[in-house]
Formats: sequence, C-alpha cells, structure tokens
Amino acid sequence: MRNDELIILFILLSATASDAAATPGDRLNISRPLYDGETLVSAGGTFELGFFSPDSNSSNRYVGIWYHKARDVVWVANGRKPVAGFSGSLALTPNGELIIIDRKNSTDVIIWNSSGPSNSTATDTTPIAQLLEIGNLVVKSDPDAADDETVVYIWQSFDYPSNTILPGMHLGWDLRTGLNRNITSWATLTDPSPGIYCLAISLAGVPQLMETKGQSQYWRGGPWVGNLFAGTQQASAYQVLISTSFVNTKEEVGYIFEVDHGLARMTIYPDGTAQRLLWQDPPGKWSFFWKTPNDQCDAFSPCGPFGICNADETPFCSCLPGFRPKNPGRWALTDVSDGCVRNTTLDCFRKGAKGADGFVVMNGVKLPDTSAALGDAALGLDECRVKCLMNCSCTAYSLTNVTTGGSGCIMWADELIDVRVLSQGGRDLYVRVAAADLVKITESSQSDHKGKSAVAVVVPILGSILVGFILISCLIIHHYKRKKKNSRSRRDYGEVISDGNGFDLPLFDFETIAEATNNFSVDNMLGEGGFGPVYMGRKKDGNEIAVKRLSKSSKQGIGEFKTEIMLIGKLQHRNLIRLLGCCIERQERMLIYEYMPNQSLDTFLFNEEKTMLLNWDMRYRIIVGIARGLLYLHQDSAVRIIHRDLKASNILLDQEMVPKISDFGLARIFAGDEAKSKTKMIVGTYGYMSPEYIMDGCFSAKSDVYSFGVLVLEVLSNQRNSSSESNNHLVEHAWRLWEEGRTLELVYGSTSNSFSISEALRCIKVAFLCVQQFPDERPYMSSVILMLTSDKEELPEPKSPGFVPWRRHFEVLHSSSERAERESVNKMTLTMPHGR
Ligand SMILES: *[C@@H]1O[C@H](CO)[C@@H](O)[C@H](O)[C@H]1NC(C)=O
Ligand SMILES: *[C@@H]1O[C@H](CO)[C@@H](O)[C@H](O)[C@H]1NC(C)=O
Ligand SMILES: *[C@@H]1O[C@H](CO)[C@@H](O)[C@H](O)[C@H]1NC(C)=O
Ligand SMILES: *[C@@H]1O[C@H](CO)[C@@H](O)[C@H](O)[C@H]1NC(C)=O
Ligand SMILES: *[C@@H]1O[C@H](CO)[C@@H](O)[C@H](O)[C@H]1NC(C)=O
Ligand SMILES: *[C@@H]1O[C@H](CO)[C@@H](O)[C@H](O)[C@H]1NC(C)=O
Ligand SMILES: *[C@@H]1O[C@H](CO)[C@@H](O)[C@H](O)[C@H]1NC(C)=O
Ligand SMILES: *[C@@H]1O[C@H](CO)[C@@H](O)[C@H](O)[C@H]1NC(C)=O
Ligand SMILES: *[C@@H]1O[C@H](CO)[C@@H](O)[C@H](O)[C@H]1NC(C)=O
Repeated sequence: MRNDELIILFILLSATASDAAATPGDRLNISRPLYDGETLVSAGGTFELGFFSPDSNSSNRYVGIWYHKARDVVWVANGRKPVAGFSGSLALTPNGELIIIDRKNSTDVIIWNSSGPSNSTATDTTPIAQLLEIGNLVVKSDPDAADDETVVYIWQSFDYPSNTILPGMHLGWDLRTGLNRNITSWATLTDPSPGIYCLAISLAGVPQLMETKGQSQYWRGGPWVGNLFAGTQQASAYQVLISTSFVNTKEEVGYIFEVDHGLARMTIYPDGTAQRLLWQDPPGKWSFFWKTPNDQCDAFSPCGPFGICNADETPFCSCLPGFRPKNPGRWALTDVSDGCVRNTTLDCFRKGAKGADGFVVMNGVKLPDTSAALGDAALGLDECRVKCLMNCSCTAYSLTNVTTGGSGCIMWADELIDVRVLSQGGRDLYVRVAAADLVKITESSQSDHKGKSAVAVVVPILGSILVGFILISCLIIHHYKRKKKNSRSRRDYGEVISDGNGFDLPLFDFETIAEATNNFSVDNMLGEGGFGPVYMGRKKDGNEIAVKRLSKSSKQGIGEFKTEIMLIGKLQHRNLIRLLGCCIERQERMLIYEYMPNQSLDTFLFNEEKTMLLNWDMRYRIIVGIARGLLYLHQDSAVRIIHRDLKASNILLDQEMVPKISDFGLARIFAGDEAKSKTKMIVGTYGYMSPEYIMDGCFSAKSDVYSFGVLVLEVLSNQRNSSSESNNHLVEHAWRLWEEGRTLELVYGSTSNSFSISEALRCIKVAFLCVQQFPDERPYMSSVILMLTSDKEELPEPKSPGFVPWRRHFEVLHSSSERAERESVNKMTLTMPHGR
C-alpha cells in the first residue's frame, strides 16, 4: 500500500511541478522551491542539480550535483539523511540558507540545512542560489552582480566538498574561518553517507596531503614540493593537461587544480582509492591516469622507522644507509614493523665531539612524514644543511620550492617514517649519518656506481645554464606582454559583428587594411596559403597584423559568411592563431589575424641554419602544442572543426615558440561543415592527406590525425614528407627504419644534438599510430595527447601506414567527370609546401 501511495504522490508532485514552471534554469529564488523531479542546469549545460537515487531499488532521495552528460555525482547535500520518497524539495530561505524539506502528512520537516552561513544576517537584498558552470552551487545576495571574484558568496558548495574535487575548488584550509575542505568517500557505491576514507591537507608540522581510514593514516601524499605532492608519483601527462598550485599563507593552506579544456576531477572511492580522471569524448568515458594506493610501498610506513621501500626489489624493505634492522630475526621473517636503528651513534650525542656527522643523499624518494617536521621558507640548501647539523635532534633535511607554495627547507626530527623510492617525481633527501658510516657508504657506492660523483658536479653547471635560460625567457615574455598591452589599448575599427551574447568581432575598413598592407603590395606578401594570399600589415598605431585575402571562390552569401566567421572567431585556444577581425567590403573578404614574427614551422624545419635553433625540448613542446590545438578543434570547441589542411606551413610560431594552428575553419567556408562526409572538393596538401581522403574524398577527424602523424615525423626528422609529388617518401623511409630497428636514425642530427630517447621513441610510435592505413585504427587526438605525454601509457603496436601511390590516384581523380571543378580547387589549395 505504501508503495502505491508513494507513486501517486510522485505523480501528483511531478504534475504540479511541471504546471508551475517549465524550466527553473540555473537559479533558485526564495519564492519557489525546487521539487523532486526538477533540476537546475548550469548556464553552459555542464552540471545539473536535483534529487537522485544512487540505488535504483531504493526510494531514498538525495540532493546532488552531477555532470549533465556523464551523470557522475560530484556533490551530495544530505548524504547522511535521505528523503524517503519523492516528497522532498530544496528551498532557499530569505536569510540565504538552503534547506531540504520533506513534506509528509502536510507538515514540513527540515531534514538538511546549509548549516549556518557565517554572515547570513547581512542580507539587505533578497538572496539567490545559482548553479555555476564550474559545478559550484552558490548563494549570493545580489542576483545581478557579475560572477567574478569580487562577488562574496554567502555560501558555496565548493566549501563543503563530498567525494570529488573539481577544477577551481580548494582542498585544504581557510585558516581565518577554520574551514577544513576535504573529500570523504561514500559508504558504498550506492550509499552516499560518509565512508571511512578521507583525503585532506594535514596541518601538523609541515602541511601535507594525507588519506585517513577512520582514525588511522592510510596513505600519505607528502608535502608540496613545487608542482606536486612529494609522494604522488604522477606521470608527466598530468602536468601537461592540468595545472596545479598550492597556497601556503597565514590565511590559507590548500591545493587547487585547473584544466584548460575538457572535464577533470579527483574522486575518492569507497574502497579507499583516490583517482584523477579526465573525460574523454569520444569514446565518452572517464579515464584515470593517476590512482593511489598503487603498490605495497604506498601503504603508510610499510618498512617501519628509518626503513625505505622499493617496489621494484624483493624484499621491498631495506634500511636507510647507515641503519640496520632493529630486530634482525623478525626482519628476516619479513616482519619489518620495528624498522631500523642507527648503526653508529651520531657524534652529536657524545660529549666533546665536534659534529663530524655528515649527510648521505637519497635521490628520487618520497619525503618522510612531515607531521613532526619543521619548515623554514627562508633557508637555502646550504643554510638548511648547517641548521640541521647544529641541532642534535635533526635527522634529515630536504628542499622544496618556496615560490610555488612549498616550505623551503624541511628538517626532520627523530624518526624518519614512510620513505619510499619513486620512479617519478621523487625528491632528494639528505639523511644524517655518523662519520664512520658515511665513509663506509661512500666507499661501497664508489665501487658500485662510479658515476655518482660526476652527477654531483654536473648538476650545478646545468643549473646555471637553466637560470640563464629562464632569465632570457622572462625578458622575452615581459617584452611580449608589454607589446600585447599596447596593441589592445587602441581601436581603429568602428563596427563590429555581434552574436548578441557579448561576443563581438571587429569589422575593419577596407581602407585601413589597404593602407596597412601598402595596397596589398608584393613586398608585404608573406605567402600564398591554401585559401588565398597572406599579407603582413602595419597599422597606423604601429601594430603588426596578418591579413588573409580569401580567394573569391566561396559561394557563400554575406550573412552566411558572417555566421561562419563568428564561429571561427569564437574559437580561442593557446595553440590556435587568434582572429582579430574581418573585412567584408567591395566583394572582398579578408580575415585579420595576429602577426607571428617567427613565421611558420616549415621555415624552421627545412632550413639548415634555423633548424639548429630548435632543440629537443622545443620540438617536443611544439608537437604536444599542435596536438592540443587539434584536440580543441576536434572535441572541445563549440563547433567541432576538422582542419583538413594541417601542415608545417600552417603552424605558426609566436615569440616563445608556442605553436599556433592557422587556417582552421576555412574548410567550412569553402566546403560546408559536414562532420564526416564525402566531398567533391579535395582540400589539402599532398603528403599530408590520408589515403581515404585522396582516394575516396572521405574525410573525418581521423584524416587530420593522419596529417598530424606526418607532421610529427617531419618535426623529428627535419625532412619533408614529399618533396616531389611522386611519393610518400618520409613515411615510407621512417617505417623501413622502424622495421629494421634503426628508428633513432630518423631523429634529426642525432649525432650532434641531445634529445630524450624515450620521448623521441614515444613520438615516433605515436606518429606511426596516426598514419595507419585505416581511419578506425588511428587514435583520437585525446588519446594521442595522453600517449605523447604519459610514460606510463602502454602504446599499442602500430600497423603498417597507408601508402598511396600518389601520382596514379591524382590522375584517377582527374579523369572523372568533375574534372573541371577539381582543377580549380586544386589550383587553389594544392599548393605544394614552400617556405614563406
Ligand atoms: C523565481 O523562480 C521561478 C522559477 O524559476 C520564476 O518563475 C519566478 O519568476 C522567480 N521569482 C522571482 C521573484 O524572481
Ligand atoms: C534491484 O533488485 C533486484 C531484485 O532484488 C536485483 O536483481 C538488482 O540487482 C537490484 N539492483 C540494484 C541496483 O541493487
Ligand atoms: C500521517 O498521519 C496519519 C494520521 O494523521 C498517521 O496515522 C500517520 O502515522 C502519519 N504518517 C507519518 C509518516 O507521519
Ligand atoms: C542546521 O543543521 C544543523 C546540523 O546539521 C543543526 O545543528 C542546526 O540546528 C540546523 N539549523 C536549523 C536552523 O535548522
Ligand atoms: C562577517 O562579518 C563580519 C563583520 O560584519 C566580518 O568581520 C567577518 O569577517 C565576516 N565573516 C566572513 C566569513 O565573511
Ligand atoms: C574533514 O572535514 C570535516 C569538516 O570540516 C572535519 O570534521 C574532519 O575532521 C576532516 N577530516 C580530516 C581527516 O581532516
Ligand atoms: C655497522 O657498524 C659495524 C661496526 O661499527 C660495521 O662492521 C658494519 O659493517 C656496519 N653496518 C652497516 C650496515 O653499515
Ligand atoms: C631542534 O629541533 C627540534 C625539532 O625540530 C626543535 O623542537 C628544537 O627547537 C630545535 N632546537 C634548536 C636549538 O633549534
Ligand atoms: C620553483 O618554481 C618556480 C616556478 O615553477 C621555478 O621557476 C623555479 O625554478 C623553481 N625553483 C626550484 C629551486 O626548483
């Protein structure tokens, strides 16, 4: 009977709800609650808020926030106290409090509140609640105020995390209010009440990331050391895709991460694992690239005090140098809980001794538990060493990066707990040992690895080069920024095209452009791109621009053209060239771009002198940058765009050698915007076009992936794929070397320039995966980025690339009935790559 009642009630409620208001949007006001069955959706459609049941067999209802598309719940309000049945509603009170009401027997019972906003009395205006696009549910007093940092929220869900951290959310402490933001696992996958695992920033000693299981320590992330927590062992992929930071001030101690596109989160699960996940679409699922605990060494203090854990060795526990097992009998039976003790007592403890102790450095380790350690941001490495030596209870020291929120010098007192060897991201730990032990350790390590002393000399030299390099790049960046500021400060256009949503694209006068380019003089011509000539221009204010004068073969009307240009103008990404405006006048259509003084990638790659300027790091960053730009075009931009003419001359380089894809979106103007289709217009460049495109005119995002693969091989080898129309020279050549096991010979001047072998091999393998014959076998750009940047990622074995006997198919194309049309297109777009 009860069930029937519930169902009837539900029907009634949903009926009244849909009568009252169709779509509540992203806001909730005091005049009308949100009933079960209704949802708020954030402005951009990323997040949704409403009632949900994690267990389809249960009528327990929770208020939560989930991804509108992916459905994963990221925040739960009333995890401990569900509403039984569909009679709940979420309401906002006039003093800015959110409450969940259960209406049973016509009496309202408050089962949850957003417990006491600290300054709730200060509401002279009516409050409003809003679900922001970043997944934050906020209550604010002025509904019309803009959503920038100046708005003070009365309450926000980001301050009360559930089991997930989202980009922009803080994990850690607001010391002014005592707020401790941490994430707690659900009890089970179908029960959102708090489970036993909790990931938090611990303030004891030097702040560190700590996962607890009930009252005990479960896993330790360690202190912040500049770009990560000292024990998180994360792949470089994470650092490329996601930027992290740590604040350590009197007001706040906390961790925050941001992602420049796509969806990312960090979630703790009921089994105690914490994962960092990225949404990948396609294939439309979450993938994690960091997960903890990972191996036996990730347990808390797996080898006892002064022990060190190495997952690659058996047994995995040993003692730190200068220490021996405290209880050798039990240690031999792999009971390591007693840990290790010092082999020789420190000098410090003997009367009259003059501190002949020394330090032995452990490279690449997870720093010990800092809950009893002392941080001193003011000390450098040498001062840290001296200070440690002076204090008898100091047993080790290390240095973290102060500028990024670390603690500078860290000194440990007494026991060193939870040290492990890390394959990535480990730090140097200086362990104090007695002089007698130090001699023994140096002797044995000299006989073991003769190279060690060399490392100690090389590091400082490398360091000074690095500092010089950083200084120079700072100067360049500074210069660039100043220039950029100037260029923004003046306007020399009157009209704009507006999309009515706050996005305006300037319309330049024909006269302005003609004047700037010296009446389109040949001297100002930078090159002839796929869709028309490009001119360099200098405006009256001295700022430089690049002007693309489109060939007149587009059949689009002005209205349609404007719509397309708006779409392209809205695409903004660090690795795309920025459209500054356009000019539509006298049958002319021109696009005005930012000017890139370093010109295009091909001018560097295929020029003997300039190619020397591209070191391995730059090349790797260029490859990853292009991949990110392409991923944005394919997946993350509002209009998904296939470039169709990706090649070295379409990659421009800014002052900092950041690659910028140009000419994107033009294919839309010339050939329509079908996502995957057959086309009569073959737009593209020999050597970069995929077999299916050449032969059948079929193009898809995977055709761009093919071009990307070719581009990667060119960047690695300094060779053009096809210097003649006759063959696919470079891909064939590279594949032959690969099959013969001579792959590294491909890499540019491998005899004289240094490069990372592992990175180069990874790039080559990814390139081969991209140029595989069948489009379905080629990876999506999202996987390409992961494969390029993560050394953990297992790469599949590439299959043979698609070779096309180019000339033959070219002729086949021409013999067809649409020959005339193709020829005109070919003239326009099949220009062979050449220097600008
Ligand atoms: C409150 O929200 C409802 C539903 O979104 C809307 O219909 C109503 O006009 C709003 N009232 C005020 C005073 O804004
Ligand atoms: C719901 O109950 C049915 C039958 O008792 C069971 O087979 C099913 O696994 C349950 N579903 C969930 C999500 O618990
Ligand atoms: C609702 O009211 C009826 C009679 O007033 C009572 O018997 C019943 O127990 C009430 N139910 C709840 C859930 O309070
Ligand atoms: C809000 O909830 C807390 C506990 O969750 C409770 O102590 C407090 O009394 C509630 N406040 C109101 C106004 O209901
Ligand atoms: C609350 O208001 C008081 C004064 O009105 C102010 O001193 C205090 O900082 C405010 N607290 C918060 C958390 O904003
Ligand atoms: C997590 O945060 C809650 C609320 O601030 C606090 O009560 C709890 O002690 C914290 N847990 C840990 C492990 O820091
Ligand atoms: C410990 O010290 C003793 C004598 O002082 C020496 O024989 C032994 O090799 C040392 N062990 C280690 C592990 O250093
Ligand atoms: C020595 O180190 C301990 C622990 O870090 C600290 O408590 C003590 O104050 C230090 N002593 C001196 C003289 O600095
Ligand atoms: C600290 O971090 C900053 C910013 O990332 C970096 O420029 C600097 O070189 C780092 N210093 C050390 C000692 O690692």
